[in-house]
Amino acid sequence: MHFEFTEEHIAVRDAARDFAQTELLPGVIERDTEAKFPHEQIEKMGGLGFMGMMVDPKYNGGGMDTVSYVLAMEEISKIDASASVSMSVNNSLVCWGLEKYGNEAQKEKYLKRLATGEIIGAFCLSEPEAGSDATSQRTTAELEGEHYILNGTKNWITNGSTASVYLVIAQTDPAKGHKGISAFIVEKEWEGFVIGKKEDKLGIRGSDTHSLMFTDVKVPVENRIGDEGFGFTFAMETLNGGRIGIAAQALGIASGAYELALAYSKERKAFGKPISQHQAIQFKLADMATQIEAARLLVVKSAWLKDQGRDYAHASAMAKLYASEVAMNVTVEAVQVHGGYGYVKEYHVERLMRDAKITQIYEGTSEIQKIVISRGILR
Ligand code: CAA
Repeated sequence: MHFEFTEEHIAVRDAARDFAQTELLPGVIERDTEAKFPHEQIEKMGGLGFMGMMVDPKYNGGGMDTVSYVLAMEEISKIDASASVSMSVNNSLVCWGLEKYGNEAQKEKYLKRLATGEIIGAFCLSEPEAGSDATSQRTTAELEGEHYILNGTKNWITNGSTASVYLVIAQTDPAKGHKGISAFIVEKEWEGFVIGKKEDKLGIRGSDTHSLMFTDVKVPVENRIGDEGFGFTFAMETLNGGRIGIAAQALGIASGAYELALAYSKERKAFGKPISQHQAIQFKLADMATQIEAARLLVVKSAWLKDQGRDYAHASAMAKLYASEVAMNVTVEAVQVHGGYGYVKEYHVERLMRDAKITQIYEGTSEIQKIVISRGILR
């Protein structure tokens, strides 16, 4: 057993760190304030290979392992969690789902452009009344000749208005419950597809979260992913990997806030010495560093298990559960270390604290992670 990253891992991490500092940091406060999607930055991330990191090079991807992906996710998330959620959905949910379960024609048509970031994708499972209870899909897809007729509403969709390609989960045979759910590739321009309202969020304000409406959208049969009835398994398997990406995002938010608190504690003086020399602050820094290290071990282990072709559903849920708790704890403490300065936008930690909360909610709430973990334990 060894804990060293390879030279390749370190090179990927450093490239992501450099990109985050030079391209994402300038303007991140403004994008958060104005709820502005980082279009230009995402385009550059595509050019650098960050939007399809794990995709096979024959489909224009980076051919990297999941460990490289989580290292890059951590670095991007330290600076801009709005950019990193877009990256995570495109990599873990859309590209991975298509590469693993799509057919050759679908990969040629869609994956090759998604992997370079030329276009980006969205993953559409959640509905107004089907969030945690994902089996209760109300969106329907009825087969009529060579097309499915898609009707329904999806909620909380990341990349909602900027995506070009949407992986949509819908009921094809409601009588069969979750075994009657199927997955489809839907293009933005198709008639009857309407992008609904943009959510005004507490955090990750630069990411574009929308509701989507489908009214009699004609989806060609060749755009179904896998067999009819495979959609729920498709969604669950895809989310198992997606949770590794979100765990890495949570880790990045925590480590970004910790690094800012550490630097600030060495500069800021109170009672005649830097506040880092006061035990009250030292204890906070020690707790933050310990929690981050433990979260990092869980995140990297779940990525490693996936790379080894081993079962990672349980490990990715543990990583997401713990890393998102750490993100919340550490960002609150980072604001506290900064005192009043932590409460204003200029110092970044208030944004990271707001961003942290979503990591306990999306791609399955903390309670959902506990269900997945306990099922793994009790199986
Ligand atoms: N991996 C693989 N298969 C799984 C699975 C997993 N983690 N969890 C369940 N399944 C399978 C089961 O094995 C079962 O299959 P069979 O019938 O073939 O045996 C099937 O799915 C149904 O399982 P359950 O009977 O256990 O279903 P359930 O209704 O009791 O609960 C759940 C399942 C785990 C709670 C599930 O509904 C769930 O994960 N909900 C959360 C959904 C979620 O994470 N949504 C996030 C939206 S995406 C997002 O946020 C992206 C973004 O934009 C950032």
